[in-house]
Amino acid sequence: MTSVHVLNGPNLNLLGTREPHVYGTATLADVEELCRREATALGLTLVFRQSNWEGQLVDWVQEAGAAVRAGEAIGGVLNPGAYTHTSVALRDAIEGAGLPVVELHISNVHAREEFRHRSYVSPVARAVILGFGVAGYPLAIAGLQRVTSGT
Ligand code: DQA
Repeated sequence: MTSVHVLNGPNLNLLGTREPHVYGTATLADVEELCRREATALGLTLVFRQSNWEGQLVDWVQEAGAAVRAGEAIGGVLNPGAYTHTSVALRDAIEGAGLPVVELHISNVHAREEFRHRSYVSPVARAVILGFGVAGYPLAIAGLQRVTSGT
């Protein structure tokens, strides 16, 4: 069965208690459940991961890229957290692995501090979803399936 990889970056393990006025009260486990339901409805299996470590995320992006090349995955939904605004390594990993990525942010980063307006990931992403709260995750999975299947 084909999978979709949902990768989450630093501090997203704190969802539910972290700045609830910005990120809401759903936990990461709640987000995983939302993603699992959407993936199942689309006939996909879900790989759902979170790490606070940049290198770990790079490894997972490379792994997801290899799965896409092997015909085992459609691509990735990536919430890079703060690494969005800093990480050349993550950007290079996406490009190097040839991973189709939907970049996702829970908050509308453009309505926040200036330093959040710049994304190193957006130029190598197929699409970007932001500002829908955690409801953006299933939207991103559905959107990824559409852009990767050409429908
Ligand atoms: C975030 C936005 C980033 O600026 C921030 O560093 C995060 C979460 C979001 O989902 O809104 O950790 O990616």
